[in-house]
Amino acid sequence: MKYQAVIFDLDGVICHTDKYHYQAWKEIADELGIEFNEMINNRLRGVSRMESFEIILEKYNGEMSEEEKIHYTTKKNEVYKKLLKNMSEKDLTAEVKSTLEGLREYGLKLAIGSSSKNAGFILERLGLGNFFDAVSDGNNITNSKPDPEVFLKAAEFVGEKPEDCLVVEDAKAGLEAAIAGKMDCAAIGDAVACGMGTYNLKSFADLLEVVS
Ligand code: BG6
Ligand code: MG
Repeated sequence: MKYQAVIFDLDGVICHTDKYHYQAWKEIADELGIEFNEMINNRLRGVSRMESFEIILEKYNGEMSEEEKIHYTTKKNEVYKKLLKNMSEKDLTAEVKSTLEGLREYGLKLAIGSSSKNAGFILERLGLGNFFDAVSDGNNITNSKPDPEVFLKAAEFVGEKPEDCLVVEDAKAGLEAAIAGKMDCAAIGDAVACGMGTYNLKSFADLLEVVS
């Protein structure tokens, strides 16, 4: 095997929460009279909740205090968490499930490296609550992607060197984080277009070839 461990981003790689993030931010943006669309939403991929709000506020005509920012990001998360309750094991595709199982059969350690503070909740909804060897997420980091911290912590949690880990990412900020952490990375989905991945995946199952 080329690697000892694979570290997966969660949103956009293991599952698709984009539409829920969009709906929840849209509700807040509408309340504040801020323009918000799919293009702006795409810029929020891999970025922490507060940094996402700062991007949304680029279109806000006015000043906002730190207290107000906390109020609106908390409100967004409440809406988002309600929407996440729609998720179930059915949202884990057969391809993702069988690929994860195949990678485990190869003897690889499997970890999550996500900016989200809701990673644990999402994994539970998907029936993956106890599946991964380690979960590094928005709750154990101070710097979010493109900083490599979340992936370096994931490598540390599984006891492997960064250079022995492969990161799987759907966001530019995530690919930058992997590269900054001296890790190989497999780009999937929209991240392929960045041209920054060590590998470009056409589909999730390609991972089985990439690692061997
Ligand atoms: C990332 C998403 O995984 O998590 C971002 O790609 C999101 O869009 C970030 O802003 C933080 O998520 P949460 O669940 O902590 O608000
Ligand atoms: Mg992602």
